[in-house]
Amino acid sequence: MIKVNEDYLKLPGSYLFSTIAKKVNAYSQANPDKKIIRLGIGDVTQPLCPAVIDALHKAVDEMAVKETFMGYAPDLGYEFLRSTIAKNDYTQRGCEIYADEVFVSDGAKSDSGNIQEIFAKDVKIAVCDPVYPVYVDTNVMAGRTGTYDAATGLWSNVIYMPCTAANGFSPELPKEVPDLIYLCFPNNPTGATITKTELQKWVDYANQNKAVIIYDAAYEAYISEDDVPHSIYECEGARNCAIEIRSFSKNAGFTGTRLGFTVIPKDIKDENGVMLHSLWARRHGTKFNGAPYIIQRAGEAVYSEAGKAQTMEQIAYYMNNAKYIYEGLKSAGYTVSGGVNAPYIWLKTPDNMTSWEFFDKLLETVNVVGTPGSGFGPSGEGYFRLTAFGTYENTVEAIDRIKKM
Ligand code: MLT
Repeated sequence: MIKVNEDYLKLPGSYLFSTIAKKVNAYSQANPDKKIIRLGIGDVTQPLCPAVIDALHKAVDEMAVKETFMGYAPDLGYEFLRSTIAKNDYTQRGCEIYADEVFVSDGAKSDSGNIQEIFAKDVKIAVCDPVYPVYVDTNVMAGRTGTYDAATGLWSNVIYMPCTAANGFSPELPKEVPDLIYLCFPNNPTGATITKTELQKWVDYANQNKAVIIYDAAYEAYISEDDVPHSIYECEGARNCAIEIRSFSKNAGFTGTRLGFTVIPKDIKDENGVMLHSLWARRHGTKFNGAPYIIQRAGEAVYSEAGKAQTMEQIAYYMNNAKYIYEGLKSAGYTVSGGVNAPYIWLKTPDNMTSWEFFDKLLETVNVVGTPGSGFGPSGEGYFRLTAFGTYENTVEAIDRIKKM
């Protein structure tokens, strides 16, 4: 008789955003006349910019011609994209990262979920609380997290780093030393950031303790303040301890087209001198046949002069939404943070409501969807996340509805 991977059975409930979608769909079916405004999942609403669309058309046309048709893509990514990324995201920022350390993939979600595979089953992970659920869930699937306590919402074998109002939603260095540390800045869900000086402390801590940092920088394009680093490789010594994950979804609207990348410097080695880079390359070779040619050409176009200017405009559009949400809620008496270097606004639920109570109230009374903070971890209880990725018109309408509540 077939047996399933029992670690999967330990996962409590469905994936956060699937749970929300199910609830919203049920409400929408029962109330077909209501206009629901979705500021829950961080999905973009602006179309791909013209430079990207032009590159897509051109690449599609190439696929129709015998001489330029492309079959399997190189599993680590086309050289044209890997070198464009290395130059624009790293060399030009003064970071020492080479094209062959960039692994192109179908997105940051799968990379941040899959990266744990190259580590031993008994490595101890540390995560921020609240946290993007993919990091914990994939470690649960890998059997690394111990047992789940439904009363506290905590796993016995995970080191939690609470990010609360008291510490400005910025984690403190854990006392119990982890092997693998997940950090995400600008942060999803709180929208908090870290300064270069603070991030340097994490890099030093990881190097001192021979730990590895998985640095999720999916939201770096939203950074507006000078002292906030765009990459962990701006810190000294990060080549020895940090893996960085990036996305084209948030900076260029590729949520539907899918494209991302992971950087693994060749200097990171395990205690026996094994390069993590080789293991990830081995994994890509075995489990991945490369992101599609046309999408990689579209990704390359994001770095063209026109692409940079057009995606910057989109980011400004979303950050204008963020400002509207932040200021609107603040003026209505809510306690809010985030939204300055990130497209997420993190608010305290009013009247001591739980995160899910507030979710239901918003959905049912003003037909606005957000994300309950407790879905990201126990320290998110009593908080709520709104995304700035809606259209401006819907964002204004949603906040005006909430203000009248
Ligand atoms: C979110 O809403 O947290 C993100 O959009 C989810 C994701 O990027 O997978």
